[in-house]
Amino acid sequence: MRYKRILVTGGAGFIGSAFIRYGLRHFSGLEKIVNLDLLTYAGHEKNMEAFLHEPRHIFVRGDIRDRPLVKNLCKKHGIEAILHCAAESHVDRSIQDPAIFLESNVRGTFELLEAARDANLHFHHVSTDEVYGSLKSGFFNEFSSYQPNSPYAASKAASDHFVRAWGKTYGLSTTISHCSNNYGPCQHVEKFIPQMIHNCLKGMPLPVYGEGINIRDWLYVEDHAEALWLILDKGLSGEVYAIGGETQMRNIDLLHCLIDRFATRLSQDPASLRQLITFVKDRPGHDFRYAIDCSKIKKELGWTQRHTLEEGLEKTIAWYTK
Ligand SMILES: NC(=O)c1ccc[n+]([C@@H]2O[C@H](COP(=O)([O-])OP(=O)(O)OC[C@H]3O[C@@H](n4cnc5c(N)ncnc54)[C@H](O)[C@@H]3O)[C@@H](O)[C@H]2O)c1
Repeated sequence: MRYKRILVTGGAGFIGSAFIRYGLRHFSGLEKIVNLDLLTYAGHEKNMEAFLHEPRHIFVRGDIRDRPLVKNLCKKHGIEAILHCAAESHVDRSIQDPAIFLESNVRGTFELLEAARDANLHFHHVSTDEVYGSLKSGFFNEFSSYQPNSPYAASKAASDHFVRAWGKTYGLSTTISHCSNNYGPCQHVEKFIPQMIHNCLKGMPLPVYGEGINIRDWLYVEDHAEALWLILDKGLSGEVYAIGGETQMRNIDLLHCLIDRFATRLSQDPASLRQLITFVKDRPGHDFRYAIDCSKIKKELGWTQRHTLEEGLEKTIAWYTK
């Protein structure tokens, strides 16, 4: 492994915890993962259940904006690379309360970059396809132009630019990845798929924005985790990698697919679950379509998606219903 001692931010969240689980399970050469997470409303100890007491994992509750803390952790644990996942991540919350997105996503990334520069560490930024805005046709790739439409996307776009600038100006070793929508175990119930499973379980309305025709590209979170490890291990400094599921679906079609699988697993009537579907007023600035061309990471790093949507949904429903 290129980096054996890694600082992961946001490792009590959805993607960060999947990244740590994957690394500790697959790489015996990994010596240490220091997991810095503030445990905001989005972070949970339960997400760390599989590795909380693993000797190679050290959990630190703290803020990425606390530069002295980050510098101290890097020094104390001989950190070689930072994998930056911590963020405010929910678009709807960013519309209600954008200030914390500026603080955590932009200033937080800035403070981490300064700590990385001080110790000359590699820095990987986990970003999103949402920075590119909305597609009518075609696909996003590494050269797509930035057109963020929500405060969340704007904050991620700004943090991407800081990462790039620290590479160009200060010679920091950096990589950035832009991933499409993830789903899987440990995702907060405010997000689309967990919310639908939760509401199916409770017999509550299944709220769908607008007419449900917005299109997203879905990737099972473990496949994203594998891509991040590959980039850390084999990615080239200064490079950007687009990661996607190559599984585009309209929200309403995804929901029907989810209902069918949920109903089969729990021996319920899909027709009565469908009656819970409720179309609600659309989100302001709602991007119509995202889709990713991920041929670069496939060709250059040998990554591929391992889960079909059906397999991923089965695992996800199994986890939430358990
Ligand atoms: N979920 C997706 O579909 C998706 C897709 C592409 C990219 N991303 C990006 O991946 C990253 C992780 O997303 P996620 O879905 O796991 O988010 P999440 O909301 O599940 O987890 C975020 C974690 O960051 C922590 N955190 C927030 N602010 C912090 C701070 N100031 N200091 C320390 N910890 C803090 C939270 O406690 C939480 O554990 C984000 O940067 C997001 O933009 C997410």
